Parts: sequence; structure tokens; C-alpha cells
Amino acid sequence: ATDLIGRHFLKELDFTAEEFRGLVELAAELKAAKKAGTEVQRLRGRNIALIFEKTSTRTRCAFEVAAADQGASTTYLDPSGSQIGHKESIKDTARVLGRMFDGIEYRGDSQATVEELAAFAGVPVFNGLTDEWHPTQMLADVLTMTEHVDKPLDGIAFAYLGDARFNMGNSYLVTGALLGMDVRIVAPEAYWPAAGVVAAARELAEASGAVITLTEDVKDGVRGADFVVTDVWVSMGEPKEVWDERIAALSPYAVTMDVLRATDNPDVKFLHCLPAFHDLGTAVARDIHARYGLSELEVSDEVFESAHSVVFDEAENRLHTIKAVLVATLAGTADPA
Ligand code: CP
Ligand code: NVA
Repeated sequence: ATDLIGRHFLKELDFTAEEFRGLVELAAELKAAKKAGTEVQRLRGRNIALIFEKTSTRTRCAFEVAAADQGASTTYLDPSGSQIGHKESIKDTARVLGRMFDGIEYRGDSQATVEELAAFAGVPVFNGLTDEWHPTQMLADVLTMTEHVDKPLDGIAFAYLGDARFNMGNSYLVTGALLGMDVRIVAPEAYWPAAGVVAAARELAEASGAVITLTEDVKDGVRGADFVVTDVWVSMGEPKEVWDERIAALSPYAVTMDVLRATDNPDVKFLHCLPAFHDLGTAVARDIHARYGLSELEVSDEVFESAHSVVFDEAENRLHTIKAVLVATLAGTADPA
């Protein structure tokens, strides 16, 4: 049983490998129960605040549906419809919401903000993405890995290609290190995670047996990988001006069929937290196409739509894993009275 009652969920570094694996196992149980129609509601009468200072599809919907499935209610707050950030400080917001809600989700720019919220709320706070970490995404990605590869977690190899300095690169490096995986960060050196994150990952690897590789070489980096992973080249909150530099530096790291072939693994799977830039289906993509003549960026449409791609399983798993976080931190897994 995975009982983390009263704990925050702010970043992977706050958890032991056993706790992290326990959340993934709980998510698998909750997923199976939902599909079998035997889900037990452990959060009846609970109230959860959802603060989004950045946009979201998956994370918001996963929190709302997870809460509803478990009998809890949610309140969605954004900066335009609340006092948060402009008229009221995070510290005061934390103390107000902590009096009304049993748990608070926060998505925004800075990790310091979600940590401050946690310091003053008096109830569990969940990081729904900051510029530094995306820990609920990692639970979903690890659950997806366990569903698609018949290996223990410490037998899994994955390669992350692209800008690894932001939330997804940091979270993958540290999560893989925590769980004893063979982790490859494949990017130009200027796009590797910050030295402090690499040092934290290397320290975890000493205990877990993880193998950590940072390389600029795509072929070496992906050889033998069970999973090839990427993320958008320009993240939420970044200025439009960075596209020039990102496209120039990261184009050799786009996930194409040639990259998947270079793994020498015919069963290799592709992961992407989404949203992804693989066709002209959005206004931003059409603008990029007009400016640079490119219709796909970090992943080719061919890979995205191929049998290698498990991105929609991954997206679905946001629901089951976020539910696991809510159940473990707010109720525990003992049968409700
Ligand atoms: N992957 C992810 O966090 O998606 P959203 O931005 O849609 O929540
Ligand atoms: N790195 C991306 C992840 C989106 C889920 C961003 O921060 O926009």
C-alpha cells in the first residue's frame, strides 16, 4: 500500500524509489479498477483547488476527472479569474486556500512558487508543472513504460532527445536515475540539464545502479533504447524569438524513423508528454511553417502516427497516476468506512 498521507508532491527528488514505484503500482491498480467498474471512492467529500497560471489540457482534465471518479470536487482558478499573483501574494493565497481545501494543485513558472505554496498551505500541494519539474508526468510515463516493456524498471533504457534544460529533461534525468534506469540525454551540450540537476542524478545513480549518459551523438545515444522520448523545443512562457536558435540547434535531434531504426530495437516505443508539433494542425504550427518551411519539428508525423508511438496511452495514464497521487496523499489506501 502506498500511503503518503499529508505529503506534498512537488518534485521527484522528494521521494524514495520505493515511494515512487508505489505510486505507479497504485495507479495501475486504480486503472484496472476503473476499467473493471470496481473503483472504490476514497475521496468523498474532499475539495481540491486547481491553480493554473499556464494553459493545460491533460493535467487539468486528469485532476478533474480523477477527483470526480474518487468522489471529490474541484475548483479551477486562473490568474485572470482570481486575485492570485497580481492582487494577493502566494503566501496569503496558500493560507486562504488551505482553510477551504484538502489539497491544492499548482501549475506555473517557478518551482519556488509551488514550494512557497506548500510551505504555507497546511494541506498537500501538487506540482502540475513548473519550468523546473513535471513530476506527475513522470508517474504517467513510468506507468506507460511498464505497460509496454516486459522488464523491471531498472532494466529499462530510454533516450531523451531535444531541449533537456527544462521541466521534461530535468524530470526524466532524475526519475530515471532514481529508478535505476539506463538514461541517455541526447542533445547539444548547451541543451543538457544544469550541472546541479546532473549532480543530483549522479548521486541517485550511485544508490540505484542507474547508468547516466549525456551525449551529443544521436546514433550512440539511442542504440539499444526501449523508449525514445522528446518534448517541444519551445516551452510555455518562452518568447517567440527563441524559435530561430532552437530550430538551428535541435533539428538534428528530431525523432524520425531513422532515429528509431538507429536504436536497433524493432519494438522501440516513442513517448511525448504532448502537446506535440508533428503536423500543421495548430495556428502556431502554421506560423512556424510560414516562417521556416517546416511542418514537423521535434517528432516526424510518421513516427507520431506509427505503431511505435504510445503517446495516447501515456496521455490516458495522466488520469490514473494523478488519481494515485490524490488517493495516496489525501486518503491512503485503506478501505473507506
Ligand atoms: N503533458 C501535459 O502536461 O499536458 P498539458 O499541458 O495539456 O496539461
Ligand atoms: N516543456 C513543455 C511541457 C508541456 C507539458 C512546457 O513546459 O511547455
